[in-house]
Amino acid sequence: PSIAAVIPAAGVGKRMQADRPKQYLRLHGKTILEHSVKPLLAIEAVKQLYLALSPDDPYFAATSLTSRQLIRVDGGAERVNSVLNALMQIDAEQMPWVLVHDAARPLVRVEDIEQLISRCLAVGHGGILATPVRDTMKRGQTLVTHTVERNELWHALTPQFFPTVLLRQSIAAALAAGVTITDEASAMEWAGEPVLLVEGHSDNLKITRPADLQLAAFYLEQNR
Ligand code: CTP
Ligand code: MG
Repeated sequence: PSIAAVIPAAGVGKRMQADRPKQYLRLHGKTILEHSVKPLLAIEAVKQLYLALSPDDPYFAATSLTSRQLIRVDGGAERVNSVLNALMQIDAEQMPWVLVHDAARPLVRVEDIEQLISRCLAVGHGGILATPVRDTMKRGQTLVTHTVERNELWHALTPQFFPTVLLRQSIAAALAAGVTITDEASAMEWAGEPVLLVEGHSDNLKITRPADLQLAAFYLEQNR
């Protein structure tokens, strides 16, 4: 099936404390956004890529991203609103599946995205890239109240891959019900839809704080 990609890129990058939104910081000579877009466009089945940008974004025009596959939409107040704005534009008859990927994850591998797509299509429902939690996890405020069973804990990454109509409906319904939605999977879970966990590489980090940029540069230099 044909796949639409959605990249929410309308955040301000508050935690990064840089002079511009982090998706426009440079990593090995290219913007983080350019890195994040490239592996999605390398997937044969991805026919359209929707980019949610701030309406007054002054940085996008200076990137090399002018491909006719890119469709620009306005971002919203929160990540979920940016994603929903893009989903509303997709013709689900033509694009029955959608991949949502953070602009702030420049290191995702094409092979991991292909794995996510094929595993989900094989079971016929959506899923996400994730990595198993390695540290022992504690719950508590000042003192530990208990140790959380680690065997079933995962870090949720992106891309996340779902049927377009189901994802759009689930997000809209969850927002209408006042549920906080931090990723696509949480809307699907809330709607009672299955979400497959597909193990990805842990170097697919989200650039969040200043040190993450150095870490990403280091990973890029490793011949991955
Ligand atoms: N995002 C978006 N629209 C928003 C907020 C976030 O499209 N209103 C995007 C960001 O651009 C990023 C992704 O969602 O690609 C993940 O969000 P996050 O890492 O939190 O980025 P920011 O919100 O920009 O950073 P911060 O929370 O530190 O301000
Ligand atoms: Mg944010």
